[in-house]
Amino acid sequence: MDQPYRQRIVLDVDTGIDDAWALIYALRSPCFEVLGITTVFGNADIDTTTRNTLIMTDLLQSPVPVFRGSAAPLCRSWDGPVPRYHGYNGLGDAPLPTTARQAESLEAVSFLHQVVRQFPHQVTLVTLARLTNVARLLLFDPATVGLIRRLVIMGGAAFVPGNVTPVAEANIWGDPEAADLVMHSGIPITMVGLDVTHQARLSREDLSRLDPALAYASIMREATEFYIHAYETDNSAFEGWCPIHDPLAVAVAEDPTLVTTRRYPVRVESQGRFTTGMTVVDARNATQSVGVDVAVSLDAEEFLRRFRPRVGIRSA
Ligand code: RIB
Ligand code: CA
Repeated sequence: MDQPYRQRIVLDVDTGIDDAWALIYALRSPCFEVLGITTVFGNADIDTTTRNTLIMTDLLQSPVPVFRGSAAPLCRSWDGPVPRYHGYNGLGDAPLPTTARQAESLEAVSFLHQVVRQFPHQVTLVTLARLTNVARLLLFDPATVGLIRRLVIMGGAAFVPGNVTPVAEANIWGDPEAADLVMHSGIPITMVGLDVTHQARLSREDLSRLDPALAYASIMREATEFYIHAYETDNSAFEGWCPIHDPLAVAVAEDPTLVTTRRYPVRVESQGRFTTGMTVVDARNATQSVGVDVAVSLDAEEFLRRFRPRVGIRSA
């Protein structure tokens, strides 16, 4: 019997608490064939994000290969990890198991090159972190622009404030030169930014209903409690919940109808004294034929209706 069609994807991550939820969501999806996972610095250093990714694939009993990627931005030095939101170990300082798993010997950018060439026009890249690996791929082989089916990017803030600076979102701010190169490369892009990810809310109440029998349950409960605490301490608008940025991008890759998009040219500021990392969205003309498909609204209820059972949160 024929296998049902599954979308070929590669995940690019800096695991990270919300990346960990995204891995759970993606690796438990019946709709994806996950060809590989590439890692990048960001929420923690590259050794830590790669180790955390290997731990999650182990806990999920997934055979998907993991490829270690960039340790620093394209052309500036790394500003360091984000322990306030992700803990010193990248997973909210929850006690972590060891894993015998190791990253593949092939480097992330070589893997991306290989897989995009092997499956032309078929691979969707879902990036949940700095765009350094993708930018390096485009610099290495510009022809890959025409071979990537779509890029779904968790990053940016089109018409809402940033989360690192008043105008910059973390994944863009962390490597603005890479982000700018990717945003106007010509690859079909969906930008899943803070405009919609701040409506994707995981609450303490949800956490309390996470099935304790799941291998990742205790880590994700502890890590997410840390994440919620950081958010609500910094801003009372987040009382009792945290945005789950990265799983939303995966969900949009799975079903684009969860969000409404508008197509705008998008560039990324990298020189500004106050505006570095800003996604500059040219909204002067609402009927653009070229540009990035920017997610501007979300069916949040439908997203959570899918997210909860997928990751093992029981109904109330
Ligand atoms: O701004 C949210 C993004 O920054 C998420 O991808 C999170 O994991 C961090 O990398
Ligand atoms: Ca991330």
